[in-house]
Amino acid sequence: MSLETEVQQLKEERNALLLAHNYQRPEVQDVADYVGDSLYLSRKAVDAEAPVICFAGVRFMAETAKILNPGKTVLLPDLAAGCGLADSITAEQLRTWKAEHPGAVVVAYINTSADVKAEADYCCTSSNAAKIVSSIPADREILFLPDIFLGEHIRKVTGRTMHLWMGDCPVHAKLRPEDLARARADHPGAEVVAHPECGCSTAALPHVDRILSTDGMVRFAEETRAPEVLVATEVGILHRMRRLNPTTKFLPLSEGAICPYMKQIDLTDVRDSLAQNQFQIEVPPAIAVRARLALERMIAA
Ligand code: 13P
Ligand code: SF4
Repeated sequence: MSLETEVQQLKEERNALLLAHNYQRPEVQDVADYVGDSLYLSRKAVDAEAPVICFAGVRFMAETAKILNPGKTVLLPDLAAGCGLADSITAEQLRTWKAEHPGAVVVAYINTSADVKAEADYCCTSSNAAKIVSSIPADREILFLPDIFLGEHIRKVTGRTMHLWMGDCPVHAKLRPEDLARARADHPGAEVVAHPECGCSTAALPHVDRILSTDGMVRFAEETRAPEVLVATEVGILHRMRRLNPTTKFLPLSEGAICPYMKQIDLTDVRDSLAQNQFQIEVPPAIAVRARLALERMIAA
């Protein structure tokens, strides 16, 4: 029996919902019930009726699912699936930062640990960060964390002054403005889409047609009639883009933009996760109750 068939059978036996992020391996995306960006998958976790949610993504995504739907068993097939960006700030560091800015509103990107979320007023993802920041009264001071490039982008889009944490994603920060300028020169007719975590997103704005979340890129792929599109993000997204639009050529800005955390999970891990009920994600109730408030505001936006 193929691994794919085993996974499908186990999903049915366990009555499990399999969620996969757009950066997951193609074969994992292909057996998932839903594939999408952080916001879409969080909403799917909220709506889940199945007793088990198996999350093919990274740890902060599985934690978010558990916080938003605590009655479910939430599984992360490999505990080594972390996130370099989420590791760039601890709850202790955030408490110190907050103490330096009493009364400031804290907006935390979903790429944070549960205990950092518990210190935040709002969570956001790349697809609703601008909307959330714009909804905060203009006279309030804002602390935005942890991604400096996303923060700069949101500052530009909303016109809001915000204090930014100096964190970045080890994969996206390497995509630099000079790479983008060179790729654009090599592919003069190509459209360029970039994720806002990219080190090239704000500085290289003249070279970028759209700055989009991963699901924004997927929707763009369905609509574009451009012969070539340069994609500045993790290469896992290309699987969906190419399948949805076989007539456009989707090229990665860098073949090396591979997130080791997102690639941690393979089909064998998903099979073992479902078969052995591993690895169950738990969030301490005192943390979960505070983080849920910030996450519910993110879901509602
Ligand atoms: P999206 O919410 O755009 O999918 O981004 C998640 C992420 O981890 C990007 O590195
Ligand atoms: Fe984290 Fe970057 Fe990987 Fe996204 S691509 S999961 S932000 S390390």
